[in-house]
Amino acid sequence: RETVHSAILEHQSKQFNQGSLLPILHAIQDRLGFIPADATPIIAKAMNLSRAEVHGVITFYHHFRQEQPAKTIVQICRAEACQSMGAEALWQHACQRASSDGAITLEPVYCLGLCSTAPAMSVNERPYARVNVSRFDQLLERHHD
Ligand code: FES
Repeated sequence: RETVHSAILEHQSKQFNQGSLLPILHAIQDRLGFIPADATPIIAKAMNLSRAEVHGVITFYHHFRQEQPAKTIVQICRAEACQSMGAEALWQHACQRASSDGAITLEPVYCLGLCSTAPAMSVNERPYARVNVSRFDQLLERHHD
């Protein structure tokens, strides 16, 4: 709650409009890792928007999580350049790992800017290039410590 209020306050110096909503949501997710459900009515009230409008923006952008992520957040690029270099096999492997390991939140992303060194992934926002299945396992071991 405090985090939600402080994120709103920080953006209050500028005049509120629809455009203020995204920076507020980003600020909340940066601090909490997700946008809690009870943030929606608080933001809506402060910005004079309906809850549905705020909820609509949160669900429209895949970037925003609605649930608390696990300790290790793995993002695998599923865009074209990575797909052509074997990202699908990597994704399938990661799905298996994530389903048996509650400490991993797996998310698809669509380009991490590493297309020339595909396939790409990130672990807790740290990017890695040329990832194959065995490198994936090694990287996760490292981040699990
Ligand atoms: Fe995967 Fe760009 S397409 S990093």
